[in-house]
Amino acid sequence: MKSRYVYLAAAAIVVGALVWLAFFWQASSSAPPGRGQPFSQAPAGGDFHLKGPDGRVALADYRGKVVVIYFGYAFCPDVCPTSLAAVAQAFSLLAPAELERVGGLFISLDPERDTTEILGNYAPFFHPAITGVTGSSAEIAQVARQYGVFYAKQKTDANGAYTVDHSSLTYIVAPDGSLAASLPHNTSPEAIAEAIRALLKKPAG
Ligand code: NI
Repeated sequence: MKSRYVYLAAAAIVVGALVWLAFFWQASSSAPPGRGQPFSQAPAGGDFHLKGPDGRVALADYRGKVVVIYFGYAFCPDVCPTSLAAVAQAFSLLAPAELERVGGLFISLDPERDTTEILGNYAPFFHPAITGVTGSSAEIAQVARQYGVFYAKQKTDANGAYTVDHSSLTYIVAPDGSLAASLPHNTSPEAIAEAIRALLKKPAG
């Protein structure tokens, strides 16, 4: 009888080891190759057209220029003003000849409240090279998807006010229209200016 228990215990250990090995093998083989996110999960960016204070604004209008894009909303209490101020400061670090080849777009994630008029006052307040644009909810959702932007309107309070939670990356688009960089919130104006300059120096094509 005793030998049978030994046999069962040994079998249990072998089965346990096999299960553990299978689990470990699966976990390690499903890990993404290399460091960070697999390339396929990076946002594609790409063209869009929305509307600004002077009518239709297309990303393609800026071809040949470096475009800095920020997604937010004019009523944002803190994150958007901080980010737009950093972009504005980066622009002010550029030489006039460099700035001529740069544009800024502030894309509203609150198309309900952000009229072209409100955006026309808001965005240039930070820097005259920043244009505020909006569109229908569906158009905004589409552009946000292209750039991997997260946003969510929060509950309306008793006064009818609400906030919009949103991701806060600053996107840098190369002169050929491709998405070149996604800079995290709190990137210094110097680093933003450097990212712009690196693209301006790159030979066309
Ligand atoms: Ni904001």
